[in-house]
Amino acid sequence: GWRSVVRGVGAYLPERCVTNAELARTVDTSDEWILQRTGITRRFFAAEGETTSQLATHAARAALDRAGRDARDVDLVIVATATPDYTFPATATQVQAALGLTAGVAFDLQAVCSGFVFALATADKFLRSGSHRCALVIGAETFSRLLDWSDRTTCVLFGDGAGAVLLEAERGGDALRDGGIITTHLRSDGRGRDKLFVDGGPSTTGTTGHLRMQGKDVFRHAVGQVTDVVVDAFAAAGIGPDDLDWFVPHQANRRIIDASAAKLGIDPAKVVTTVHLHANTSAASVPLALDEACRDGRIRPGHLVMLEAVGGGFTWGSALLRW
Ligand code: ACO
Repeated sequence: GWRSVVRGVGAYLPERCVTNAELARTVDTSDEWILQRTGITRRFFAAEGETTSQLATHAARAALDRAGRDARDVDLVIVATATPDYTFPATATQVQAALGLTAGVAFDLQAVCSGFVFALATADKFLRSGSHRCALVIGAETFSRLLDWSDRTTCVLFGDGAGAVLLEAERGGDALRDGGIITTHLRSDGRGRDKLFVDGGPSTTGTTGHLRMQGKDVFRHAVGQVTDVVVDAFAAAGIGPDDLDWFVPHQANRRIIDASAAKLGIDPAKVVTTVHLHANTSAASVPLALDEACRDGRIRPGHLVMLEAVGGGFTWGSALLRW
């Protein structure tokens, strides 16, 4: 059989950095409120004309560099995004073209903030099947384009960015022992739509729409239910929270992260938190956190890493990897 091994991680944040204090000049909010409720201190916004596929391509190139691979090695590109360049074609095909690729396959995956974990699980199934050899799994978003600047309960929470992981199929061995993706668990429940959604789209309003959220309900769902996918991963691998080296959850909000880790019995010292650095970047948040923790030397070869994400839909998922 085949297993999917991580060869490199890359990330990209746009140049424009906006602190809470700067935001408070145009939005009725304060640094204290945002920091206390969310842990966020700043976010990055794409420049006018800068697109999701451009952010994604920067992150993909960084992951290729880190892995020491050439773009021509890649035969699968999956972009997780809720903010595509266009309604169609898929943003992934624009990344493919920007990387100079004409072979292989590229497509988008839409699971909002869970998108990266869903894309990683999808790529893993392609690589395990033996049909593909080398996958770029990218989470990339320009959520700034969806924000309603007159709604202070949502516009302070999000930022733009991209992160990417290069996966390669390796023959034989065992992921838990030798490295690679050990197990993935995905869930969704469409009854949660009104809690977190964008009120526009091609087949409804014909507009892009704006993000709408019932924050308290989302908070309750995020902490209350989604930990089941992590428990499923522990059971499937026959391990427990103490075996983990790192827990890398979706970076929406420090309070959700802390409460989820506590509920799962994961030592706070093992939790990678980067939401303070770039706010909630939706599908980009998990690979941005991975990039940070790999570059600063926290995540090292051999480490056992649990990824977790939750997003609109609701969607939620986990992925357990041996680095
Ligand atoms: N600045 C200042 N005051 C604000 C702001 C703001 N940006 N936003 C809301 N307030 C005010 C409200 O108007 C309210 O005032 P009132 O008491 O006079 O009515 C007060 O702050 C408290 O508002 P609440 O909504 O009760 O605040 P809460 O403690 O629930 O925190 C928050 C809001 C941070 C959104 C919280 O509900 C939360 O974290 N929810 C999870 C949502 C989330 O992180 N989603 C991310 C997207 S989903 C995902 O990625 C899965």
